[in-house]
Amino acid sequence: MKHILDELEQRRAGARMGGGERRIDAQHKRGKLTARERIELLLDSGSFEEFDTFVQHRCTDFGMEKTRTPGDGVVTGWGTVNGRKVFVFAKDFTVFGGSLSEAHAAKITKIQDMALKTRAPVIGLFDAGGARIQEGVAALGGYGEVFKRNVLASGVIPQISVIMGPCAGGDVYSPAMTDFIFMVRDTSYMFVTGPDVVKTVTNESVTSEELGGAKVHTSKSSVADGAYDNDVECLLQMRRLIDFLPANNRDGVPEWPSFDDAERLDASLDTLVPDNPNKPYDMKELIAKTVDEGDFFEIQEAFARNIITGFGRIQGRTVGLVANQPMVLAGVLDADASRKAARFVRFCDAFEIPIVTFVDVPGFLPGTAQEYGGLIKHGAKLLFAYSEASVPLVTIITRKAFGGAYDVMASKHIGGDVNYAWPTAQIAVMGAKGAVEIIFRADIDDPAKIAERTAEYEARFLSPFVAAERGYIDEVITPRSTRKRIARALALLASKKVEAPMKKHDNLPL
Ligand code: HXC
Repeated sequence: MKHILDELEQRRAGARMGGGERRIDAQHKRGKLTARERIELLLDSGSFEEFDTFVQHRCTDFGMEKTRTPGDGVVTGWGTVNGRKVFVFAKDFTVFGGSLSEAHAAKITKIQDMALKTRAPVIGLFDAGGARIQEGVAALGGYGEVFKRNVLASGVIPQISVIMGPCAGGDVYSPAMTDFIFMVRDTSYMFVTGPDVVKTVTNESVTSEELGGAKVHTSKSSVADGAYDNDVECLLQMRRLIDFLPANNRDGVPEWPSFDDAERLDASLDTLVPDNPNKPYDMKELIAKTVDEGDFFEIQEAFARNIITGFGRIQGRTVGLVANQPMVLAGVLDADASRKAARFVRFCDAFEIPIVTFVDVPGFLPGTAQEYGGLIKHGAKLLFAYSEASVPLVTIITRKAFGGAYDVMASKHIGGDVNYAWPTAQIAVMGAKGAVEIIFRADIDDPAKIAERTAEYEARFLSPFVAAERGYIDEVITPRSTRKRIARALALLASKKVEAPMKKHDNLPL
């Protein structure tokens, strides 16, 4: 028996070396960890159980039969993050550049199938050169199998993609169909076709970083949801993210011990909104002062910064937060902000995560750039997402809620369950200046009359009370009591049930 066990250990040790010492050194020299080192950091110590350690490719073209490596360029299995089950696959760049063969794809689909069966999240770590060129269509077929499962699992289990090296060709589309993509700065890039092909087809000279680096995808394309400085920080943040997420769409949000008092009042919030309605203030301060221990995991921080999206906790239970940011473009809703928030709202709704919305929005951004860019369609995405959401929706208007944007931002009319306003709220069709210039156009050349009309409009409409008179606002609350009110509303709504009419699926304006 001893020699059998010794052989097993020897085989395992060989497999763990992936593409060999030289390639592992090269990986380290580029500031990257190996697939197995990454898994060690991502999962609880000693919890990783590997599958298919000895799987090899079956390709015999181009002399490939002489190059079989156990594992075939991807390490797969399951383990735990803070005790909660997750499935993981990590592309091993030291073996054929992490490229995807038929056997490699089968290892990934096995993990996807098990994750779906057992209703646990899948995390994919990418560092790869796309389809295994020597395998031709067998590799393309492999990608198709992975893609199909990404879609089957969408909305059932969370799927997270972490880009930690090259991610090109077929490798980009699986991440694109998962819930979140995170990247490592300077060492990772994502594109459908690389700089050489770009040069040939469009004669455009561009570096990998300029074409698909973390900066591009977090701030311009919005393909990625966040970026971190190195592998270690990135993986530790992924552990933090997992702690916020439910295991699946049925089990509900995780509950962690909280040392923060649900009844906590914060007097500093009473002076958060400046006297001058045109002066900005930082909505992130309100978020930090509302959630448990100020712990907020922001999604798409660098994109469409006029709206904030991310996860926090109230009484130890995850909530999604959506908030206009008066510090950027006065918190206006534009096409990018609408798309960003719509996707986030839909994620929360799919996974039964209650949504808290903070509103300070002067309206939709006017202009040809917005209209030509499809503002109507993109704005409708957010309106649609909130309107179809059946999770608890708690809304707090801190200052402006003007025009269509008032309706869109989880108003009572489209499904807001508990809608509060601060006394500083201004809920109206538009601001005073624009309104007076339209409805009192005849007086436009008389500054005294205009001033009088403006004061009249402000007194009548720029407050929360017209909306409160109609019951569109459930209560006008003191800013200091915001956390307490939200905690109570969420407790009330924990048993919310909504029956939607039977349909195959809706027709979200894409
Ligand atoms: C087979 C590959 C490979 C691939 C890399 N390797 N990509 N082997 N198939 N797709 C191998 C290399 O031959 C090399 O082996 C080792 O991995 C490391 O690669 P290097 O090129 O030395 O590394 P580096 O200089 O860091 O460049 C990394 C890279 C580059 C940018 C990813 O390798 C590259 O451009 N690869 C090809 C990318 C690509 O076009 N893929 C196909 C996309 S088409 P040795 O033995 O020399 O160390 C596709 C279609 C699917 O994916 C569409 C489905 C929808």
